[in-house]
Amino acid sequence: MSVTVLVGSQWGDEGKGKVVDILSEEYKIVARYQGGANAGHTIRIGEKEFILHLIPSGILREDVTCVIGNGVVLDPEALIHEMEFLRSQNINIEGRLFISHNAHLIMPYHKLLDSIKEEGENKIGTTGKGIGPCYNDKYARRGIRIVDLLNKDELIKKIKLNLKEKNALLKNVYHREELDADKIIEEYLRFDELIDPYVKDTALFLNKAADAGESILFEGAQGALLDVDFGTYPYVTSSNPTAGGASTGTGLPPTKIDKVFGIVKAYTTRVGLGAFPTELNNEVGEKLRKIGAEYGATTGRPRRCGWFDAFLVKYSQTINGITEAALTKLDVLSEFDEIKVCVGYELNGKRLNSFPSDVTRLEQVTPIYETLKGWGSDISDIKEYNDLPSETKDYIEFLEKQTGIYFSIISVGAKRSQTIFR
Ligand code: GDP
Ligand code: IMO
Ligand code: MG
Repeated sequence: MSVTVLVGSQWGDEGKGKVVDILSEEYKIVARYQGGANAGHTIRIGEKEFILHLIPSGILREDVTCVIGNGVVLDPEALIHEMEFLRSQNINIEGRLFISHNAHLIMPYHKLLDSIKEEGENKIGTTGKGIGPCYNDKYARRGIRIVDLLNKDELIKKIKLNLKEKNALLKNVYHREELDADKIIEEYLRFDELIDPYVKDTALFLNKAADAGESILFEGAQGALLDVDFGTYPYVTSSNPTAGGASTGTGLPPTKIDKVFGIVKAYTTRVGLGAFPTELNNEVGEKLRKIGAEYGATTGRPRRCGWFDAFLVKYSQTINGITEAALTKLDVLSEFDEIKVCVGYELNGKRLNSFPSDVTRLEQVTPIYETLKGWGSDISDIKEYNDLPSETKDYIEFLEKQTGIYFSIISVGAKRSQTIFR
């Protein structure tokens, strides 16, 4: 029994959904602690593919209880849509899903302001789900929380007060149409009726569960390099996907967390703008995108692709405290004769000692590569580590040496069955 934080170790889309689904067989509770519907976590069960944005991936295992923690920004429209989708798949969510009363609500103006900002010079390639503007209001202490839904008069007052500011901004700065307060109030009051049965003091619930020795898996969204504090700022998301975020985003203190489990993709991808030292803007990158089906699960955008960056993952290992991880999408590399791995960065002729925090410096670095031999055969049906070709094992062990992470799980395909345990 343990309390584990599962984190994306690169720029998101490492295969967290698949691995949460595999691991949740061993956990009683799966909880999200940050982000919102910007996430797109894919789980393949048999021939069926599920993409979850807000509800933890553990929902697909019927004896798992799922929690949406206080650190998540919740879009009611997305939540209702996802609940309906799960019901249509005969997945029961009643009594299995709890939402923190402290979580902040994404409002229609958050999504609108997100898309307006993306039309301007400060564009960063967001998912357009209103994430940044909602966290902005949270930290400016004017956000609207789930708990506000319980007090109708207060809710109406808060929406009206917020709209006064947002409408002034929409009208005078962006020259857009103003939003109608009554329409939003009506929509959110209807939402209150729908989610009322799911609202809980989830911090208390999680602490009681941990104290009773129950196992909890925290499902991180995004990845370490998208972290607002440690990522490639400003080309990041507005939350803390790194392991520390699990405590502030759920109310379970660090003293109750046993382990940090990383999800590491066997190459690198990124969606949206921002520096990407090992990016391959050529036919090799296109081949990775094609074989790896690298298109966003939330927006459908083509993902930028490049070689594995061990220097970046080592940095991620350090700030997350990853001791163990799953190496995913290794099968995608099977068709490459040679595979490169970045083991360090050079800037102005000097090798860097640490990952640059300044994005303009990161844009200027030259990756230092080591080249490994490919294995030239399909590995997607292999079940035992020792049955992998020796070149595949050499690649895995080289990454382990460079990153300081032990890969206890090797994923060689999207299905549950395509998983090797060591
Ligand atoms: P997440 O956001 O980290 O959950 O990852 P996504 O779901 O956005 O993207 C990962 C994609 O790779 C999904 O389409 C998965 O079905 C798929 N996938 C996961 N693991 C593997 C793997 O080991 N091999 C292959 N080929 N695909 C995988
Ligand atoms: P999962 O959980 C990959 C990226 C966006 C953009 C930046 C900011 O599926 O790994 P935001 O909408 O959060 O304000 O966008 O972050 N981004 C992701 N990239 N996977 C994700 O989630 C992402 N969520 C946000 O592309 O660059
Ligand atoms: Mg994703």
